[in-house]
Amino acid sequence: MTAIETENLHKKFLGVKAVDGVDLAVPEGAIYGFLGPNGAGKTTTIRMILGLLQPNKGKIRIFGEDLMRRRTKALKNVGVAFETPAHYEHLTGRENLDITRRLLGLDKSEIDRVLETVELTHVPNRLVRKYSLGMRHRLGLARALLGKPKLLVFDEPTNGLDPVGIREMREFITSLPERTGATVFVSSHHLAEMQQMASHVAVIHLGKIVFQGGMNDLRGLHASRLEIACVDEAAARAQLSGMGKRIERRGGKLAIELASNDGAEAEAAAVNRKLVEAGVDVHHLALAPWTLEELFLQVIGAPPRADDQADA
Ligand SMILES: Nc1ncnc2c1ncn2[C@@H]1O[C@H](COP(=O)(O)OP(=O)(O)OP(=O)(O)O)[C@@H](O)[C@H]1O
Ligand SMILES: [Mg+2]
Repeated sequence: MTAIETENLHKKFLGVKAVDGVDLAVPEGAIYGFLGPNGAGKTTTIRMILGLLQPNKGKIRIFGEDLMRRRTKALKNVGVAFETPAHYEHLTGRENLDITRRLLGLDKSEIDRVLETVELTHVPNRLVRKYSLGMRHRLGLARALLGKPKLLVFDEPTNGLDPVGIREMREFITSLPERTGATVFVSSHHLAEMQQMASHVAVIHLGKIVFQGGMNDLRGLHASRLEIACVDEAAARAQLSGMGKRIERRGGKLAIELASNDGAEAEAAAVNRKLVEAGVDVHHLALAPWTLEELFLQVIGAPPRADDQADA
């Protein structure tokens, strides 16, 4: 079953195409990363998926239910947390949760369950205005978890958090499918973070999906790199150039792109052998896969930055 399916989704604001023909297919059980730079159309897409914004064109189905025709049924199993969680500041965490619990007609025990899941059991009776930003985020997640929704939608859930908060949030989100059985749809422009979290990914740029698939498919778009460090760098360069390799410099080492992902190890060994046989001593040789950040820039067609350019 597909958790979220959109078909040719469009949204224009005053002539600006914020979302321009988006087709998404989010498989059940996935942690689906929705990646894109600022202004790409992530929040607009999410608001339409949640029925908060009317598309100009297109279809949305949630667990097979048509959102436009059967809105209540479609959204029944969806929990949401936005990047700046809005809470009642003058109420406690528990009281905030209680408001949503009553609206959803849930049992009181739900509150303790979600407080435990997000590890806020030590501060449920503190006023939200005295919460740290990390606590506010977790309270937002707790609210999303009320009623055990089958689909969780998080828009930039790590925005504004410090590195510890980001790691906590990442670990928490990663654990959700296993702990709750829910499908997670999470937007971000923190690429490295998504790489550690998502099983599937869609990349949106200027309102259009430029890539959609498994995280490994995205990585597979480009061959790996090989990092090499030699005592005599000039000799190494000459040998590598002779092999027809374009040489880059990364973190004090030389780097070349390998012909394919599948044959990466064999090719690395062959490069090493050629260097050594040519009398070039190698003291470091390691496969270095592309980071999501690098893939992302390539997928959206951004030019490489000056420091990524090959050496002359
Ligand atoms: N209510 C609105 N009125 C006018 N333009 C809007 C509105 N909401 C969004 N836009 C525009 O639509 C485009 C997409 O915005 P959106 O907020 O969906 O991007 P985003 O990917 O969520 O960006 P960010 O990473 O900054 O949150 C932007 O050009 C934005 O300025
Ligand atoms: Mg946004």
